[in-house]
Amino acid sequence: MKRFRQFRASAELRDIYSEVPPILADDLIYPYFVNSGKGVRDEIASLPGVYELSPDTLVKDVGEIKALGLNKILLFGVVPEEAKNETGSAAWDPEGPVPAAVRAVKEKYPDVTVIADVCLCGYTSHGHCGLIREVNGKKIIDNDSTLPLLARTAAAYARAGADFVAPSAMMDGQVAAIRAELDNEGLSAGIIGYSAKYASAYYGPFRSAVHSSPAFGDRRTYQMDYRTVRQGIEEIEADIEEGADLVMVKPALAYLDMIERAASKFGSSRLVAYQVSGEYAMLKVAAASGCFDEKTIFDESLTAIRRAGARYIISYYAREYLERQEKQK
Ligand code: PBG
Ligand code: ZN
Repeated sequence: MKRFRQFRASAELRDIYSEVPPILADDLIYPYFVNSGKGVRDEIASLPGVYELSPDTLVKDVGEIKALGLNKILLFGVVPEEAKNETGSAAWDPEGPVPAAVRAVKEKYPDVTVIADVCLCGYTSHGHCGLIREVNGKKIIDNDSTLPLLARTAAAYARAGADFVAPSAMMDGQVAAIRAELDNEGLSAGIIGYSAKYASAYYGPFRSAVHSSPAFGDRRTYQMDYRTVRQGIEEIEADIEEGADLVMVKPALAYLDMIERAASKFGSSRLVAYQVSGEYAMLKVAAASGCFDEKTIFDESLTAIRRAGARYIISYYAREYLERQEKQK
């Protein structure tokens, strides 16, 4: 009989035999929703514990998470319905919420890595990630005419001082289009590709937060079908070829197989996994209703994502995760 229990006899021994590196503050990316207001701090109904902030309150919050060692943030802009239009032009407005937030954070905390999500869905009146075009009397999301708008948006964020732009629209060629535009303008921002991004019900709470549910149809003509595997590898391959500096698998927990495959094929060091809004809400809400202990369930879930091979994890729980660790010390 092999004595496995010797590996588990005490907390110290369990630490010694752990095969998964601990998740440190450096490995976490914290997402924020920002609008163009002042003094705003509104809890998002679909995401308990997550707030819609304005540039000023964001800077204050970043000061707090910095004290925990969190030094990478991901920004999503929130604009009112009346600012939305057919093309989503508020996305690249230099006075829009994201450029304003980037400037505010970089001014006070130049050493914080600021990543700006690049997509149109939060800014279009129809809620899709690209431009609409009618073909044979049917509305489609047009790939190629969307590319210059994504490039323009990325350039606006890079000009404001974003360290990375992260195109999430799942338009073919979006990384190449952005890379070319950044090069053209002499901007040195890096690119994080939302490369293997599945069409997922797990984005539900996010879409309520930024009011970006599609007005018609769904995102299945551009985001990946969740019955595909090799396509995800090819998407990542294409993004790397087009000039992405980091690549992503999204969502995380339901797609651990993809994280594992991507890590073994492309290496862990450039791989990001996104624990998306629905994953967070599911655990948070179930824990609040007494199904399980919140800290334990998040520890286990984040460890699973790390164990599959993700170097960086984007998580709405990042702040609380580190706060709870601090408390334990
Ligand atoms: C924009 C975007 C989405 C998410 C990140 N960028 C929503 C979507 O694609 O519908 C989802 C993030 C989350 O659910 O936490 N395209
Ligand atoms: Zn989008």
